[in-house]
Amino acid sequence: MPGTTRTQVGIVGAGPAGLVLGRLLEREGIDAVVLEARSRDYVEHRLRAGVLEQGTADLLRALGVGDRMDREGLLHAGIELRFDGTGHRIPLADLTGGRHVMLYGQTEMVKDLIAARLESGAELRFEVEDVALHGLEGNAPSIGFRHEGVDHELRCDVVAGCDGFHGVSRGAVPADRLTVRSREYPFAWLGILADVAPSSEELVYTSHERGFALHSLRGPTKSRLYLQVDPGDDVEAWSDDRIWDELHLRMARDDDWVLHEGPVLEKGITPMRSFVAEPMRHGRLFLAGDAVHIVPPTGAKGLNLAVADVKVLGEALVAFLRGGDERGLDAYSATALRRVWRAEHFSWWMTSMLHQDPAAADDPFAVALQRAQLEYVCTSEAAATSLAENYVGLPWARRTLDAPMNRVPRRMREERG
Ligand code: FAD
Ligand code: PHB
Repeated sequence: MPGTTRTQVGIVGAGPAGLVLGRLLEREGIDAVVLEARSRDYVEHRLRAGVLEQGTADLLRALGVGDRMDREGLLHAGIELRFDGTGHRIPLADLTGGRHVMLYGQTEMVKDLIAARLESGAELRFEVEDVALHGLEGNAPSIGFRHEGVDHELRCDVVAGCDGFHGVSRGAVPADRLTVRSREYPFAWLGILADVAPSSEELVYTSHERGFALHSLRGPTKSRLYLQVDPGDDVEAWSDDRIWDELHLRMARDDDWVLHEGPVLEKGITPMRSFVAEPMRHGRLFLAGDAVHIVPPTGAKGLNLAVADVKVLGEALVAFLRGGDERGLDAYSATALRRVWRAEHFSWWMTSMLHQDPAAADDPFAVALQRAQLEYVCTSEAAATSLAENYVGLPWARRTLDAPMNRVPRRMREERG
């Protein structure tokens, strides 16, 4: 075949998972090729997440792609939970020994990673078509694809499936080898980007009887706002005026807080689901990020989990490809899934605490439980600390069940530091 080439790691997808993995391998001298179905412009402007855990931000710095993030991103030390017209601050940094989150758009992070990869000359192809994975169960997998009208075969030692929820990688695993656990939610998020300075310095998560609302931001001049809507809603049914009216109603506070309005630059509806497929490995295919798990966005975990996966995978690949040590690869799925399920639980919990389930609206018991949970998180240091340590991101290496808390009482605090 005219286009037959070889690399060590074939990476499918140039989202956060594929690009961070590519960068990690490049820094360790491992050869990789990144194949992306969309155009560069498309992936650099696809509006998504905005909250980076401290560990994610630290990793980007260590990979030499953190300079613009440090200049333009905003470090946040707390979030507000708002209900019954009152805001309650959760002091994330105070509760976690000084850990912060970084507000920096996924779009910007992706731009920085693409620029770094292209500058280094490492291979990254956009607009590839007909991607198909072959030979995953043997030692010589390959990726077939078409690029600029030419058919290619990329022979690899390992394939990394980083192609998101709708990619081809997960589907390349025989269905009877994957266990899928999932949950659909009876609501979706309508998100807007508005050309107006943020109305609050910190993120505001609001629980209201009309539904959840979130105030976030993208730098000093742009606000990012979300509303819980019906999953069947058409975005056209939400005029800008209707969106602002609803945001005012849900986010109203009893004091003089004001929500600033501005021109709506982008508008879209995102379904909410929880989804995990396991194991995250099939032969020489390793799945990472949204390709293998999805969280509802309430805990701001999706992008961070994708990065956490490839941190584990990248280190395992280096050990394997440099010295033939397969232990890291053998442990990859179990290691990554431990963090995945923690984030699944946290994201489900934040979602359940803050959204209105239409089916539970007439269930006074459910309403009272939800209210009790909110009050507990806002009044108990122990409960707020649990939220905070999950929100800023748990340490890469965490205690395991064979080191019970009563035997090492101080260790958790030390790990957090
Ligand atoms: P992706 O970012 O999906 O990247 C996968 C890449 O693979 C894409 O570039 C795609 O074009 C490419 N691809 C797909 N198929 C192929 C193929 N066959 N061949 C080659 N390439 C392929 N998380 C939050 O925390 N907060 C949010 O507000 C938030 N909003 C979101 C809104 C939407 C609409 C979506 C879909 C997700 C959102 N998320 C959010 C989740 C977060 O953005 C994801 O968890 C994160 O993008 C995962 O990164 P990834 O690299 O695993 O996957
Ligand atoms: C965002 O800024 O897009 C954002 C922030 C927090 C979330 C989800 C999305 O929980």
